[in-house]
Amino acid sequence: MPSLRQTLKAILPEALHPAITGAYEIIGDIALLTLPDALLPYQALIGATLLTIDTRLRVVAHRLPISGEFRIGGLEIIAGEPPLATIHKENGLRFRVDVERVYFSARLAAERLRLAQLCQQGEQTLVVGSGVAPLPLTLAAHGAAATVVGVEKNADAHALAVENCRLNRGHGHKVTPVNADFHALTPADLGLFDRVVIAMPETALTALSHCLQFVSLGGFLHLYIFQDENRPLPARDMDTILAAAGCQALSIAAVRCGHCGRARYRYRLDCRLG
Ligand SMILES: C[S@@+](CC[C@H](N)C(=O)[O-])C[C@H]1O[C@@H](n2cnc3c(N)ncnc32)[C@H](O)[C@@H]1O
Repeated sequence: MPSLRQTLKAILPEALHPAITGAYEIIGDIALLTLPDALLPYQALIGATLLTIDTRLRVVAHRLPISGEFRIGGLEIIAGEPPLATIHKENGLRFRVDVERVYFSARLAAERLRLAQLCQQGEQTLVVGSGVAPLPLTLAAHGAAATVVGVEKNADAHALAVENCRLNRGHGHKVTPVNADFHALTPADLGLFDRVVIAMPETALTALSHCLQFVSLGGFLHLYIFQDENRPLPARDMDTILAAAGCQALSIAAVRCGHCGRARYRYRLDCRLG
């Protein structure tokens, strides 16, 4: 398959070549790309070109920045036919996704698998900000977790999570999707967990103080955060929040697990509570 970048270089004016990145994300049969302003007058041509060279695709959409509590970005179809809903396959699982209504990133597939490999036999796990349940289902299918509870506030994402548990027979029965704002929940509602994952990088440190109460003694906590390359990781902030809640960390480690903009990275902070 010829690359989008090379194909566009052959058809767009030379002055625009520095603006061509050729990068796009595939979710099911949908391609999402972010076009710089200079390329917007050519968006229909770029979309049609991508549909021609990548025959897995049905529709191409230009992505506007992600925003808001539910982390959804505006989308504009530039080639092909709606809907912007599809079935996405990853790690042997199938997820129904509506990219206009829910957050979903295909780029996190390898990280979901890496986290699943950390789970130990028979664990009770909680995922806070679980979306359409890609992480709960990956932990259930590829990890040793006995049960996974996924808490998600976006009702559309929750409805798809319930459907995805049905779609993935053999694993879905281990997952319980809960449609709620995590702030409204306590251990009296959900119980305690051997492992808690906070999958909301924009607000992870503020969510931490509330979510600590769900981790059992000796349990594990994983926190996804975004951080600029030249800034120190907030391990000390995490320590301070833990101390304020009367908790102690036996260990805190940071793992870089993704790139999310110029010199900005996604990290996973792994912590064991003592
Ligand atoms: C970055 S997305 C991650 C979704 C999912 N873990 C995934 O990887 O596809 C963060 C999720 O947290 C959800 N969320 C935001 N605030 C929440 C809250 N207060 N309670 C529960 N979920 C929340 C959003 O709707 C969104 O689906």
